[in-house]
Amino acid sequence: MKKEDLVVYEIYVKSFNDSNDDGIGDLNGIKEKIPYLRKLGINYIWLTPIYQTPNIDNGYDIENYYKINPDYGTMSDFNNLLKEAKKYKINIMLDMVLNHTSTQHHWFKKALKGSKKYQNYYFFEKGKNNKPPTNWTSKFGGSAWEYIKKLDLWYLHLFSKQQADINWENKKLRAEVFKIVNFWLKKGVKGLRFDVINLISKPEKKNWKNDLKYNDGKKFYTDGKNINFYLKELNKKTFSNYENVFTVGELSSTNLKHFANYSNPKNKELDMGFIFYHLKTDYIDNHKWSYAPTKDFKKFKEVIETWQLYQQKHNSWIANFLSNHDQPRHISRFGNDKIYHYQSATCFAVLYIFLRGTPFIYYGEEIGQTNLYNTKIEEFNDIETTNAYKKLRSENKTDDQILKIINQKSRDNGRSPFAWNNKKYYGFSETRPWLKYKNIYNITLENDLKNKNSIFKFYQEILRLRQQNKTFKLGKIKFIETNNDNIFIYERYDDQKNYQIILNLSDKKQNYKIKENIKIIINNHEKLNFNFLNPYQAIIVEC
Ligand code: GLC
Ligand code: CA
Repeated sequence: MKKEDLVVYEIYVKSFNDSNDDGIGDLNGIKEKIPYLRKLGINYIWLTPIYQTPNIDNGYDIENYYKINPDYGTMSDFNNLLKEAKKYKINIMLDMVLNHTSTQHHWFKKALKGSKKYQNYYFFEKGKNNKPPTNWTSKFGGSAWEYIKKLDLWYLHLFSKQQADINWENKKLRAEVFKIVNFWLKKGVKGLRFDVINLISKPEKKNWKNDLKYNDGKKFYTDGKNINFYLKELNKKTFSNYENVFTVGELSSTNLKHFANYSNPKNKELDMGFIFYHLKTDYIDNHKWSYAPTKDFKKFKEVIETWQLYQQKHNSWIANFLSNHDQPRHISRFGNDKIYHYQSATCFAVLYIFLRGTPFIYYGEEIGQTNLYNTKIEEFNDIETTNAYKKLRSENKTDDQILKIINQKSRDNGRSPFAWNNKKYYGFSETRPWLKYKNIYNITLENDLKNKNSIFKFYQEILRLRQQNKTFKLGKIKFIETNNDNIFIYERYDDQKNYQIILNLSDKKQNYKIKENIKIIINNHEKLNFNFLNPYQAIIVEC
């Protein structure tokens, strides 16, 4: 298998399928659905963290990297899942959270007890005049430093205060990290997704500085000084020693050039990476927790085009996606999930699945699962969201105003239990699931498969098309200028073939002349009119 052959399906483990009816998704639940995933046409499953955890950030706070979260099952359940997946020619990709550990991890506990060795696994620093070492803020709100009175030291946490950043400068720590990664590779895991991996290289210990411009410190630790060294070492000591392992880095706020270095094969770092700039186009003044009244496809298209062309030129590789567990559902965000449910689900699928790179499908999008549309603040669960709520309250916003914002932006939107059928709790579980999901449009797999227009079947069709076609996997990409922000057109081509992907990203008809006598490969509307595109029409033509 080569990287261009991968089609990855991300599973938010807590929400996919509950086998023992405790309201929480689990490994056996996933195993039951392997045939379903094979039918869809994917060949890799990325599991969000499955390790022992106090669950402050739903598993992104790891207490023990060698143990399975008992809510999800046992090690033998995991081994069985690997085996079952293999039968269906599906590989497992695990989430490696190596920028921080839970503060319940035994390293951190020993550090708290005063062990210098383990304090050096983290960043324990002296404060300045009773203040933290720097003014940096945590990505989940508040200071990035937490004070430990007993030690008179502060420790760094770029995320919640229960997620302490680990010190990659320390060789012993790095050796521990490699041991963890090799443990899972030895079991037969064939993919690794590295959580916020470009944040692991912090400034030299004595060099903590305030961030005078943004207060967030991002520029001091994003794509830090030793990052390429660390990744090369990780590559050499772990996954390069195993055959057919593919890696993807979550590359938070990186830039074009750094990205190209991480994923260019000659550098022997990572196979591919995620970027998020196309998903920040609905932030207002760079601010996530604000309500975006309209959709700006001009910026959205620009970002995709710039990144695609640059990475093509530099022989690097993008992991393409529109939804994941940190994002609202893209059908609700960019499409119209009420009136044009089928059309917008299929249009955005075509948009990213045919780009140059590897497609990452997020569970539920293949039936057009939507945002939560909650009516009460208490219905939200995510730590980032609840912290944002407190902050917005402190800015004197009312609950109604806040609800409007978090219904649009919360990560919980992308974490609803999968709606398999029309039973109570949608066949996810026999008990009330951990996260409330009203499913206001009653979208379920069962209903989808009964529809004349099935989103699932459309995904099957386009995945088959992509997988059988060298041009879509390896061909070049170019973008066709239109003077209409709502129309997005690109081409995939090589010596033999030339395909045009033509999309109307809006819920209005758009004037556009399509050449007659062309071969239509994909069309998500019954009809084709040569003078205009229907709302959310997506067509692929061979020219
Ligand atoms: C990544 C994960 C996110 C998590 C954070 C801290 O961005 O995708 O879910 O909260 O890292 O680990
Ligand atoms: Ca369960």
